[in-house]
Amino acid sequence: MRLLILGGTQFLGRAIAAHACAMGHDVTCAARGVAGKVPDRARFIPVDRDTPDGLAPLAGEAFDAVVDVSRHPGQVRRAVAALKHRAEHWTFVSTVSVYADNSTIGQRAVAAPLRAPTAPEIEHSTEETYGSAKVACEQAIGEDAFICRAGLIAGPEDPTGRFTYWPMRLHRGGEVLVPGTPDDAIQLIDVRDLAQWIVHAAQTRLTGYFDGIGPSYTRGQLLADCAEALGSSCTFTWVDRAFLESHDIKRWSGPRSLPLWLPLPEFAGFNTRDTSPARESGLTLRTISETARDTLFWARTAGGPDTGLTDDGEKAVLKAWHANRSHR
Ligand SMILES: NC(=O)c1ccc[n+]([C@@H]2O[C@H](COP(=O)([O-])OP(=O)(O)OC[C@H]3O[C@@H](n4cnc5c(N)ncnc54)[C@H](OP(=O)(O)O)[C@@H]3O)[C@@H](O)[C@H]2O)c1
Repeated sequence: MRLLILGGTQFLGRAIAAHACAMGHDVTCAARGVAGKVPDRARFIPVDRDTPDGLAPLAGEAFDAVVDVSRHPGQVRRAVAALKHRAEHWTFVSTVSVYADNSTIGQRAVAAPLRAPTAPEIEHSTEETYGSAKVACEQAIGEDAFICRAGLIAGPEDPTGRFTYWPMRLHRGGEVLVPGTPDDAIQLIDVRDLAQWIVHAAQTRLTGYFDGIGPSYTRGQLLADCAEALGSSCTFTWVDRAFLESHDIKRWSGPRSLPLWLPLPEFAGFNTRDTSPARESGLTLRTISETARDTLFWARTAGGPDTGLTDDGEKAVLKAWHANRSHR
């Protein structure tokens, strides 16, 4: 295939380009080149998608398939206008943040209600409008495309550090502060599995709306499997939501967070999506052990992101938790 990736300079886009090159496809990546470099065997064409004629450098090119990872409706609308009629297959990488209901368990992509899209004049998404902007992007593309709504993406080169926090923390060993209960659900996908499926979808001309994510684990099982894969000797101290919130521990990501923690029951549906349609359409998954080992290896060799609770921060919360319990 002659495959165009609108993106390709970081994480998922880069993994798609790397996998497609490894499969022998003719890969072009178009981006500014600000986020990073494209894989060695891919061709790079500099474009700035925020300008009205930003895709002009692609004017004389022909592609069998296009993959777009943008989160900005203006960029997506311009790409559809300039390129969609010239490609046989179109993939848009969307997100499970498009869904309006995060609490109902076991929802499927085709039936789940969506957030309202951002207004037509909105060009860029922000952290607050991310999900709505992705809905607007999806609507700009239309039905005859592969709309891949990714869940939490894990693995080497993840700039967010959300999953990476856990292999790094488990590797340090000792008493590990963990949120909620061992039975809480958690759902993610290795970036390389997602990349492989996206290339497979382009090859097989798959269209429709899918969630791109792996099966639901319990947090207890996921952490135990990761610890075993890393040969880590640690114990888990499960701390409830009220205590964590009273100590200003943030949810999901960023400084002073316990990454991947979402409060229940509000988010009971976020990590329990029914992804059997994806697996029936070619998505294959490696083990969480492999993801944990490779993520840790990358984080330690490349100096991966530093995020979540610090060592001292974790010790202080654990100390307060044990003091609180001994006074009961
Ligand atoms: N990470 C997760 O857990 C997660 C979860 C759900 C869904 N997703 C979705 O998965 C995708 C992840 O994509 P990704 O890892 O490749 O990262 P990304 O941050 O979405 O990448 C954006 C890409 O677009 C390029 N770009 C940005 N502004 C541009 C401009 N003005 N002109 C041209 N190119 C521009 C960037 O390259 P330059 O900066 O070099 O131009 C980069 O390659 C996104 O669609 C995201 O919404 C992610």
